[in-house]
Amino acid sequence: MKKTKWADHYTRRAKEEAWFARSVYKLEELDKKFRLFQPGTRVLDLGCSPGSWSQYASRKVGPKGRVTGIDIKGPKGHISDRFTFLEADIFDLDLGGLLAKIGKVDLVISDLAPQTSGARDVDAARSMTLAQRAMEVADHLLKAGGKFVCKVFESSDTGQLRALLKSRYKEVKAFRPKAVRKGSREIYLVGISKKAT
Ligand SMILES: C[S@@+](CC[C@H](N)C(=O)[O-])C[C@H]1O[C@@H](n2cnc3c(N)ncnc32)[C@H](O)[C@@H]1O
Repeated sequence: MKKTKWADHYTRRAKEEAWFARSVYKLEELDKKFRLFQPGTRVLDLGCSPGSWSQYASRKVGPKGRVTGIDIKGPKGHISDRFTFLEADIFDLDLGGLLAKIGKVDLVISDLAPQTSGARDVDAARSMTLAQRAMEVADHLLKAGGKFVCKVFESSDTGQLRALLKSRYKEVKAFRPKAVRKGSREIYLVGISKKAT
């Protein structure tokens, strides 16, 4: 009962405030802690649908910023004139082609999540594969000094991903926003200041 009430709080608030998903409050917490967005920031949002992160990002980057969102399905509605949607599976992306199309970005955010099967190990492995792919996308598209945020379901393999990120970013932090549902194993890894290659 208590759990449902708690979950409803974010869901209800998201509806009242016209966000396309309650996930927006996780990004807001991440932004407050890691100062992800500045006016003019160019953002790549992986797994962007239904679209609340892109809505939030579009507002925060202002008129000079740009947000590109990628997902296998489209957003729930109009996001912003600063937003471009690309319908694609991230595993099928031609990263050279994407770079030529949108150029380097200042921030890559990934809320990619698999269809959950209910089997903890299977879901954690799928989430890890998505997070590693997000990291590869950032390897190609993120400028030196840029920030990277990705969701992952915590498991015994999370340490490996952290190690991979540590070789690429000056600092790596793990953060679990309060808006993550109780009982969920999701955490966010944040790479701060991508090293020059
Ligand atoms: C939790 S939702 C993201 C919510 C989003 N951040 C928001 O605020 O609205 C995860 C998204 O990842 C997408 N996704 C999962 N696997 C994908 C893949 N291989 N390629 C592209 N998108 C994928 C799903 O379609 C889903 O929309």
